Amino acid sequence: MATAMVIGTQWGDEGKGKIVDYLAQKADVVIRSQGGNNAGHTVVVDDKSYALRLLPSGILFSDKTCIIGSGVVVNPKVLLQEIGNMVAQGVKISKLEISTRAHVIMPYHVRIDEEDEKLKGDAKIGTTKNGIGPCYADKINRVGIRMGDLIDEKLFAKKLRINIDLKNRLFERYYGCEGFDYDAVLKEYLGYADQLRQYVKDTDYAANLYITEGKKVLFEGAQATMLDLDHGTYPFVTSSNPTAGGACTGSGVGPRKMQNIVGVVKAYTTRVGAGPFPAEQINEVGDYLRNTGHEFGTVTGRPRRCGWMDTAVVKFAGMLNSLDYLAITRLDILDDLDTIKICTGYTYQGKLLKEYPASLEVLEHVEPVYEEMPGWKCHISDMKTYEELPEKARNYVERISELVGVPLGIVSVGPNRNQTIVLKKIF
Ligand code: GDP
Ligand code: IMO
Ligand code: MG
Repeated sequence: MATAMVIGTQWGDEGKGKIVDYLAQKADVVIRSQGGNNAGHTVVVDDKSYALRLLPSGILFSDKTCIIGSGVVVNPKVLLQEIGNMVAQGVKISKLEISTRAHVIMPYHVRIDEEDEKLKGDAKIGTTKNGIGPCYADKINRVGIRMGDLIDEKLFAKKLRINIDLKNRLFERYYGCEGFDYDAVLKEYLGYADQLRQYVKDTDYAANLYITEGKKVLFEGAQATMLDLDHGTYPFVTSSNPTAGGACTGSGVGPRKMQNIVGVVKAYTTRVGAGPFPAEQINEVGDYLRNTGHEFGTVTGRPRRCGWMDTAVVKFAGMLNSLDYLAITRLDILDDLDTIKICTGYTYQGKLLKEYPASLEVLEHVEPVYEEMPGWKCHISDMKTYEELPEKARNYVERISELVGVPLGIVSVGPNRNQTIVLKKIF
């Protein structure tokens, strides 16, 4: 048995796509288990950039099986566009499998997401407005439509009728906006069903069988620990479980089969959307990180909020995910800084907190505690080995690892597949 998992440890966009693509070189199967097209995973190979939202980041290898698992929410239109884009970029999509249990994002989910955000005013979450939350809400409310329903014309027609009637009442009486025409949605979605039917199967069985057969299976997390519905900065979170447990429920693979859990850590911190962010730097440091790191959302184009590395966050992620290794990415973005700060914890009402606060009220009023380290002031993107990295850069990543209590596995010094320094062979 050989499995590995890639998990975001902060608020997303840590470089999970890059790390998955790197590890996928050795894998046979790559599985996405949660989230949907709120994810934006960029993979760069030979300076060519690929933007992935729903397709697992193993898709660039035509010989790897790529699974969209049961816990994912699938917008069929977006998925078909993404497949089209990949094919246009010369990627062969031959071994894609989509879970029959994955829920389908419908146009009314997207509209509810938009309308809810408007109604919430200042309390808005800053969602990606892709209908992710409303789709998961329907799943929990047991009225959702699954991929298996979509590809069965009669069943889909029946479930769509129930949903359109329910949702149109909501649009007309609650949101005060236009509803959807049943026939138009039916026609549009049956068209998608025809194109996606070939990929739909019981991936719960398939995933377990691959592992039993000794294939190397890699689980690709989307979003991140602090966006986890249960453990993140609720309510400023996404609507799924991006933590390691979510990879189990979202793939149908039990926890005993999960090995080599890799937490991806950006060398500083970013966040898109609203919610507390104690180490945020609304000053020239934040501007430096945003401009040097081109920190603008891949999905929405929004400028990302930027701040120093926060090991209180990553340590919490270490615990929640049972991390085996850290993969520190984007170290090169810090190349020009004279000094670099690490937020090692928070004080609240003058006292150092021992645990990551569950209460947003507390988190909004904490004072970050920083330690400062000297920058290395040279360009590291061409360095190929750990020993080659300047001592000050090594000190920085080693200090992060020490504070978090999880060993280093990978240090990434650029977006390209070959700009990856491996300290621990993971597969
Ligand atoms: P994900 O959502 O976690 O997959 O991350 P994103 O793809 O949204 O954002 C990470 C960005 O950083 C992408 O544009 C990657 O190509 C890029 N990236 C990943 N690792 C590195 C690195 O070590 N250095 C630099 N400069 N860019 C990186
Ligand atoms: P990847 O996989 C960064 C954020 C949104 C918003 C909140 C809820 O690329 O790291 P949603 O649309 O999910 O209901 O929005 O979660 N968010 C992300 N932030 N990276 C992501 O994915 C994200 N997916 C959702 O900005 O704050
Ligand atoms: Mg992203």
